[in-house]
Amino acid sequence: MRDQLPIADVQVVLTAPMGRNLVIAKLSTPESGLYGLGCGTFTQRFHAVDAFLRQHLRPLLLGRDALRTEELWRLMVFNGYWRGGPVVNNAVGAVDMALWDLKAKVAGLPLYQLLGGKVREAAAVYQHADGPTPEALEQHVRELKQHGLRHVRLRLGGGAQATRLDPEAGGVAYGGGGQDQITPPDGAQPGAYFDPRHYVASTLDAFTHIRTTFGDDLELLHDVHERLDLPEAIRFAKELERYRLFFLEDPLALEDFTGYAQLRAHTSTPIAASELFTTAEQWLPLVRDRLIDFLRMHVSDLGGLTPARKAAVTAEHFGVRTAWHGPGDCSPVGHAVNLHLNLATPNFGVQELQPFDDRAREVFPGAPEFRDGYLYPNDRPGHGVDLDEDAAAKYPCQAEVVKWSQARRPDGSLHAP
Ligand code: CO
Repeated sequence: MRDQLPIADVQVVLTAPMGRNLVIAKLSTPESGLYGLGCGTFTQRFHAVDAFLRQHLRPLLLGRDALRTEELWRLMVFNGYWRGGPVVNNAVGAVDMALWDLKAKVAGLPLYQLLGGKVREAAAVYQHADGPTPEALEQHVRELKQHGLRHVRLRLGGGAQATRLDPEAGGVAYGGGGQDQITPPDGAQPGAYFDPRHYVASTLDAFTHIRTTFGDDLELLHDVHERLDLPEAIRFAKELERYRLFFLEDPLALEDFTGYAQLRAHTSTPIAASELFTTAEQWLPLVRDRLIDFLRMHVSDLGGLTPARKAAVTAEHFGVRTAWHGPGDCSPVGHAVNLHLNLATPNFGVQELQPFDDRAREVFPGAPEFRDGYLYPNDRPGHGVDLDEDAAAKYPCQAEVVKWSQARRPDGSLHAP
C-alpha cells in the first residue's frame, strides 16, 4: 500500500488551440507515466500565473508528498503570507487539480469516485446564443436546439468581443445596435460603450421573440455582465419574470455586495453570481442569506477543486445550486474537473460549455464528450484528460491588451465589464 508520493517536478504548459490563452500545470512523480494535470487559466494575465507557478510554487512543492492534497492547498495559500487574488489562486488551483488527478490515478478510479461517486451520469450544459437582431438570435438558438441543447444563454449584440463601440475600431454596442443614441462628450476615450436603457429595452424585446418562437420548453439564461446599477437591475429582473428564466447572471457588479439583498427582495427571477469571486468570504454571505440561486465561480480562480468542493457542499444546505464558470477560457482539463464535481454534486444546476474543436481535442486527448445536451467523462482514472505537449506547442499564447473589458457608459466613464 502506497502512502507517500513525492513531487518530482512542476512544469507549466501554455497553449491556445482555440485562440484563448490556457495555462496547464503538470506535476510529475518519480514513477514514469504517473503525473497529474491541472488548469490554472487566467487568460488575460497568463504570464503572471506561469511565473508564479514556476518561480514560487515549484520550489515550495518539490519533494513534498503529493497525496496530502488538503495540506498542500493550505501550504500554497499560507506560504506567501499575503493570500488570495486571481493570479495566486489560479496557480494554486492548477496544482490542486493536478494533485486530485494524481490521487485518483493512484487509486485507479475516475475522479468522481473520490468525491462521493456519481449522483448522475452526465452534466446538462448550456451554450451561448448571440445575434445582432432577435431574428439572428432565433437562428442561433435553432442551431443549438438541433445539437440537443435544452439550456441556452441569450445575448443580443454579438459575442463578448463584439460589444465595443470604439470610434477607431467600430463595433456593436452591448444589447444590439443602439450606438447611434450614444453621444459621448468631446474627447471621450475609446472603449466598449453601452447604454443601459437601450440594452434593457432591446434585450426584453429579444426575450419576447424567443419565448414566442420556441415556447416554454427551452431553459433561457442571460448574463448582465455587471452592467446595471441596482434600480436598473431590479426593474430588469422584474420585467424578466414573465419569461421564466433559468437564471439571470451577474445583474450587479462584484463590488455591489449589499445590492443583492435588495434585488432579492424585489424579484422572483433566479439569480446567479460569483464568477469573479476568489475567496469563501465573498460567496459565503450570498449563500448563507440565500441571496442567490446559483454559485458559478471559475474553479481555478477560487483555488481549485479543494475549495470548490467545499463551496458546493456548503451551498447544498442552503438550496443553492452550482453552475461553474466554463466558457473558452477554461481548458478541457478544467472542464473535466468541473464535470467530475458536477457528477458527484446533488445540488448541481447546469454547466456552461464552449464546445471543444478538433485542435483542442488534439492538444487534450480524452476531453469530455458532448452528446445531446449533456457532457460525459471518459472512464479513465483521474479526470481522464491528457496533454499532448508537441501539439500544444503548435498553438502558442499571445499577450494582447484586453479591449472588450473597457466598458464605458454613454458619458464615457468606465464601468465594470
Ligand atoms: Co458571466
